[in-house]
This record gives sequence, C-alpha cells and structure tokens, in this order.
Amino acid sequence: MLVSKPIRFTVAIDGPAAAGKGTVAKGLADHFGFAYLDTGLLYRAVAAKALLGENVITAANKLVPTDMASQTLRSSEVAQMASKVAVIPQVRAALLAFQKSFACQDGGAVLDGRDIGTMVCPEAKIKIFITASAEIRAKRRYDELQSKGLETSYEVVLCDVKERDERDMTRKDAPLKRAQDAYLLDTSDLSIVTSLQRAINITSAAFVKVI
Ligand code: DC
Repeated sequence: MLVSKPIRFTVAIDGPAAAGKGTVAKGLADHFGFAYLDTGLLYRAVAAKALLGENVITAANKLVPTDMASQTLRSSEVAQMASKVAVIPQVRAALLAFQKSFACQDGGAVLDGRDIGTMVCPEAKIKIFITASAEIRAKRRYDELQSKGLETSYEVVLCDVKERDERDMTRKDAPLKRAQDAYLLDTSDLSIVTSLQRAINITSAAFVKVI
C-alpha cells in the first residue's frame, strides 16, 4: 500500500520594505499549495495596539489572529511604528514561537519578513533574499498609496523607506540581513511576473527532491 508522507517544506523570504516580498511569497504559496504567513503583519498588529496606548510587550504576548485582519495595519504610520516595536527583544521573543510552528506545519509553508532565514527558520529548505533599490521601492510604495487615494509625496515615501531600512538593518536583535545560503533576487528591473517565475524556478529545483 502506498502511504503518502506529510511534506515539511519551508520557504523563507526576507528583504527590505516594498521589495516585492509579499507578492512573490503569496504567489509561491499559491503555486505550490503551501500555507502563507506575512510576518510583518504580526509586528504591525503590535504597533497598532501601541499607537492606541497599549503596553507593547503585553500586546505581543496576547496577540490573536483577528488582530492581524484590520485594514489600518497597512498605513505608513503603522509601518514605521512596527519597525520601532520590532527593535524590542521581548516583542520579537513573544512572536517567535507562533512563526516557528507555522513554518514547520505539514503541507509546506512560505513566510516573508526580515529574519525568517536567519532566526525564525534557519533550516528552511529554500531561502530567498528579495531586494530592489530604495528609489524603486519608494516609487512602488508611492504608486500603491496613490492608487488607494492616500495623499503623500514621493520624497516623503522615500524618506520613510530609508528610515525603516536603517532601523531594520541596524537593530541588535535579529537585524534584516541576507542569510549566507539565501538566493539573491534583485527585483529593481524585473516585473512581478518575472520575479515570481524566478522564485518558482529556485523553489521547484529543491521541492522535487523532497516529494
Ligand atoms: O514587512 P512589513 O513592511 O509589513 O514589516 C513591518 C515592520 O515589521 C518592518 O519594518 C520590521 C518589522 N518586521 C520584523 O522586524 N521582522 C519580521 N520578520 C517582519 C517584520
């Protein structure tokens, strides 16, 4: 009798803000039928509570799935605050166990964030570090905000992106950096379709070996 064994296959996607991580990670998860977790949403949910005056460490320890559902988590204000609360080691520690168990679930998982390949899931089968120039990332984020009718300027968005990069890359605990064994995918001159196709090609090569 043929018994199919459960598949444990984790894809770790890291990179700076607006590099295209989310689109590629979600597309990969859809393509392979894996579960998907945008880990930035966890930090954003804690940030939203901090903006309402809650203690950040308590908020991180009491987070529930519905906290990640609010549309307001996508605002620039929440993004900047998320980068600030992400510096606090107790906040990172409170969010770690959930991310680790998500990564190890049967059926495969894709997680995107800043420290997935280095801290959350150093044993991930595939790691991809997705980046693009700060100017291109700011332009993409500016276009996205414009399409949602949100008033801002390209210069403000560029400043925000650079400020967040600096904080995310220089914090002591789990800074944003490329894992040594991560593929580098620079999306500066790539369309979404091409970026996703490259990530699918990278992942397919490893995936066929485990099934
Ligand atoms: O991916 P994002 O833009 O939604 O992330 C918001 C902030 O959360 C980011 O600036 C830093 C923090 N973050 C983190 O420190 N570690 C992660 N794995 C994901 C996000």
